[in-house]
Amino acid sequence: MVLDENLPQSKKRISITVNGKKVEHEINSRMTLAEFLREELDLTGTKVGCNRGECGSCTVLLDGVPVYSCTVLGVEAAGREVLTIEGLADEGKLHLLQDAFIEHDALQCGYCTPGMLMSIKALLDRNPQPTDDDVRKATDGNFCRCGSYPNIIKATLDASKKIAHE
Ligand code: FES
Ligand code: FES
Repeated sequence: MVLDENLPQSKKRISITVNGKKVEHEINSRMTLAEFLREELDLTGTKVGCNRGECGSCTVLLDGVPVYSCTVLGVEAAGREVLTIEGLADEGKLHLLQDAFIEHDALQCGYCTPGMLMSIKALLDRNPQPTDDDVRKATDGNFCRCGSYPNIIKATLDASKKIAHE
């Protein structure tokens, strides 16, 4: 989003935890959380598709809850914990959910994938053994233009079994 330079702008210093690390940063108070993550922190794994709360590609977890980061102001995330796709892998080792997406071909262009994975991560955190319908409901705000839904469901159910046996 290009900010209108004619409108009043103010800067604020915020403290925020991103992927487990505390960050202190100055932020334009009209900047969205998606812009803050991508442009100020270089966390470009979070994708911006519609930029108006419709597609889900920008989904991140805010205090464990999936949100559209294009509809949240960066300043609203001050003092809170954000998890982005970059925080899903552990020291270079992919999360079992990411492995399952690869194994089950749960993506084509991949643009929806970071947001999809974050919504599913939140689902598995609150419901480790979801049904097909649970996965559908948890991802009903994440659009996949490539139509990878059947494989996304298979990958999620497979990952949930593997996580249970970890
Ligand atoms: S980019 Fe945020 S919902 Fe589409
Ligand atoms: S894999 Fe292309 S939009 Fe989902």
